[in-house]
Amino acid sequence: MRIIVGAVLAAFVLVLAAAQSDLEWWKTTTLYQVYPRSFRDTDADGTGDLLGIVVKLDYFVSLGVGGLLLAPVFKSPMKDLGYDISDFEKIDYTFGNEDDFDTLVMECHTRDLKLVLDFVPNHSSDEHRWFEKSIERKNPYTDYYIWQDPKSLNETAEPIPPNNWLSVYGGSAWEFNEERGQFYLHQFHVGQPDLNYSNPLVIEEMKNILRYWLDKGVDGFRLVNVPHLMEDQNFLDEPFSNDSQFSPDEWGSLSHIYTKDLDELYSIIYGFRDVIDEKQAELGRSLLLMVEAQASLENTMKYYGQEDRTGAHFPINLNLITHFKNGTTAKDLKEIIDMWQSAMPTSAWPNWMIGSNDRPRVASRFGRDFSTAVVIMSQLLPGTAITYYGEEIDMEDTWISWKNTVDPLGCDAGPENYTEFSRDPSRTPFQWSDAEFAGFSSPESRKPWLPINENYKEVNLAAQKDDPNSPYAIFKALTAMRKNMNAVQTGHLETFTVGEKIFVFTRYLQNSNEKNVMVVVNLDQDDVTADLSRVPTLKSGGMITYHIGVNSSYTSGQDLSPYSVHIPARGSLVFLYTSAANSAALAPMLLTISVILRLL
Ligand code: GLC
Repeated sequence: MRIIVGAVLAAFVLVLAAAQSDLEWWKTTTLYQVYPRSFRDTDADGTGDLLGIVVKLDYFVSLGVGGLLLAPVFKSPMKDLGYDISDFEKIDYTFGNEDDFDTLVMECHTRDLKLVLDFVPNHSSDEHRWFEKSIERKNPYTDYYIWQDPKSLNETAEPIPPNNWLSVYGGSAWEFNEERGQFYLHQFHVGQPDLNYSNPLVIEEMKNILRYWLDKGVDGFRLVNVPHLMEDQNFLDEPFSNDSQFSPDEWGSLSHIYTKDLDELYSIIYGFRDVIDEKQAELGRSLLLMVEAQASLENTMKYYGQEDRTGAHFPINLNLITHFKNGTTAKDLKEIIDMWQSAMPTSAWPNWMIGSNDRPRVASRFGRDFSTAVVIMSQLLPGTAITYYGEEIDMEDTWISWKNTVDPLGCDAGPENYTEFSRDPSRTPFQWSDAEFAGFSSPESRKPWLPINENYKEVNLAAQKDDPNSPYAIFKALTAMRKNMNAVQTGHLETFTVGEKIFVFTRYLQNSNEKNVMVVVNLDQDDVTADLSRVPTLKSGGMITYHIGVNSSYTSGQDLSPYSVHIPARGSLVFLYTSAANSAALAPMLLTISVILRLL
């Protein structure tokens, strides 16, 4: 791979007018999802920990992100790597202790970084004391979970599950508990019994847990798995989906009309939002509530709120993960972006995410020749940008052998099929340097919990830090734009296509002298010279006064003709410019251009 960048990013910040904004903090920044097991190990046990995040806080500041989103660090037997929580108010010893957490909150706030927690309301661990007491039918816990009698007994006198419901992880969603003599529901792993949201006591417990962490200083939550919160109380069989790609014990083989997206669940989320608002008023701090919902666009929008009820500040937008792939045409990409924008309720706040702990990394989905183009889009589209650790240095998925597989989804699939299901490849340790264990653990440490990617000698932060042409440097430039430019924070969005392969979007403020932004993405394997004169704010052309580029043919001070803009194969260009519309009618447009490109 060959990367050449024209100009240095330090100067870049100088050309940006600092935005004077009174927007909430989460509207002007990038949130960085930390996967704590894989970020930095300070106690040489091979697993990342809270103090590992603390020692790296200045990294986030220099990267220009404004907040951390932490995958769960609560007490857990780790059957689903922390998403199975056995005490919602305790820190798991793997990550440290309560004092370490307090230190993290304090040190974040000292640096003006926000701390947002992943929160898993749908289920607890089967080792949670609530579940243990529920098995024993000890009140008030008897109905904290979803218990049902067997449908009947089979010919060998074994209990038959109450209905055909399937777990997202495959197989029956029901597990028989001998002691209680009933089945419990688990929509995810068998070690994750579903909490019973038709029991008001459960809802109150969860609200109190939110209050607990807010009192400890956290700045918000992302609630995951929310479409599964409620189940139909008639417990009828679900119909078949008739989707032939799924075998009968796979979750996709049923149509989930009784276990997912139930109308009743949204008011629970609105109730959680009430807690956020109540604590925001009490604590005098701006707080954030996000939800992660794998749902149709129509259902996803309901999380923003309905009628007179306010919901999450936003549901996570997964469209660039689920719909955007290699081979997507410019028209389809435009549609993917436009559909979210036009589906949102009036005045709702958008967001974009391109990777997560459940999906292959962006560099592996698209290839490293195009990942920067995707990062650029996610950072400059309207709304909050959420980045998954490692995207800023272009980390790729890591091949993991069966022997080293840890993710229950992979383990349950067996040695033949585990690679199809395991999420381990996108969860490997952060590549800090080319030192032993990529600088994730000390050399004398135990082996990291997952293998380090073999490419760490080449792909690591230390190698990129002082290189103005690196993915890291480009990422920094983008966070600076997001932080400093009103057009990026609140500017309008217009999207265009030129042919099958060129996608263009502009961000601009009406009646403002601030620079506009235009992003041009070339989805083609070949260089393209495109006519962009259709883009209203570019019609009059301009002069390049500033330039960052990878293999770019442009230089600062050069005229830019809107009729023939050259975009290298799989490249992405970012132009900053002052619109001619804001100058005297015939005055030459002054363009400030930033070109960021990557080529094989
Ligand atoms: C969330 C997590 C995922 C986990 C699931 C079950 O979706 O991202 O890793 O397995 O919740 O709790």
